[in-house]
Amino acid sequence: MQRRNFLKNSSAAAAGLLSTPLIASCNDQTKKAVTKVEESFSKKPIAICTWNFENATAKAWEVLKNGGSSLDAVQQGAMIEEADINNQTVGIGGRPDRDGNVTLDACIMDKDGNCGAVLAMQNIASPVSVARKVMEDTPHVMLAGLGAEKFAYEKGFKKVNLLTEQSKKEWEEWKKTSEYKPVINIENHDTIGILAIDANGDISGACTTSGMGYKYAGRVGDSPIIGAGLFVDNEVGAATATGVGEEVVRTVGSFLIVELMRQGKTPQEACEEGVRRIMAKNKGRTDFQIGFIAVNKNGETGGYCIHPGFSYRTYSETGHVDNPADSFLKA
Ligand code: GLY
Repeated sequence: MQRRNFLKNSSAAAAGLLSTPLIASCNDQTKKAVTKVEESFSKKPIAICTWNFENATAKAWEVLKNGGSSLDAVQQGAMIEEADINNQTVGIGGRPDRDGNVTLDACIMDKDGNCGAVLAMQNIASPVSVARKVMEDTPHVMLAGLGAEKFAYEKGFKKVNLLTEQSKKEWEEWKKTSEYKPVINIENHDTIGILAIDANGDISGACTTSGMGYKYAGRVGDSPIIGAGLFVDNEVGAATATGVGEEVVRTVGSFLIVELMRQGKTPQEACEEGVRRIMAKNKGRTDFQIGFIAVNKNGETGGYCIHPGFSYRTYSETGHVDNPADSFLKA
């Protein structure tokens, strides 16, 4: 039986749409299918994000628990980190490029495959919200640089100085050597990628970052690139990435992981294969970190990374948990 029909038929059974005598007389295989679907219901709704961004998953869960959509959940979860000035890798307070400008990247994708993104946008504190406007109010998917900023003002976003005193001080210190060297696990918080399934079983995702600290002006990583930093397929699941974006772009990492799940891999197996592909391309190079997370349509999750130190947060009926991810290289 086709997997989709199987799920549809067994969902009907689990929802009590099959008559009692039929349930009573159903064979073991059908009973197992009903149990499996009932179990999977308990895993949804769910919010999952890269790193230990517990305030983001808490916000997303609040939206889901109140019957909100997965799209609202991922946007509002991501916005929490964008607004946190102490988080120097996302939104306001993010580390600047080598010229001292904070440039932000973000994208968002919904259950219908609609998506929007902003790239290298300055002076706007919530790029994920602008990305949603691109998705909903324009015929485009991506707006970059000054165009994105102009569009944000047209939509009512306010001009904000994104460079905090702390990030400015660190940038001035960095200029003394001007050595570009991404730090593995950047103090345990890098890009936030966030995925959610709502009570309807619909999946959405968002990803937002200030990118690599002290990058070349105009550099864009994986985070706003649909398929690289984020991908959602409502029939299968979703994936998102954190770490050195160039390597994620080269493998179209998040799309790859969703396709691996479509072929039958669990989210965990798919994330592991995604990291293995990156390592195979890099032939012995180990001076960078990548972390992938994924969720499938049943609400099962997985995460995997190159170096130890990456974890991901999940929030569902079963609790709010920080999950240390297994890694390709061991400590
Ligand atoms: N993953 C974030 C970036 O490379 O920009």
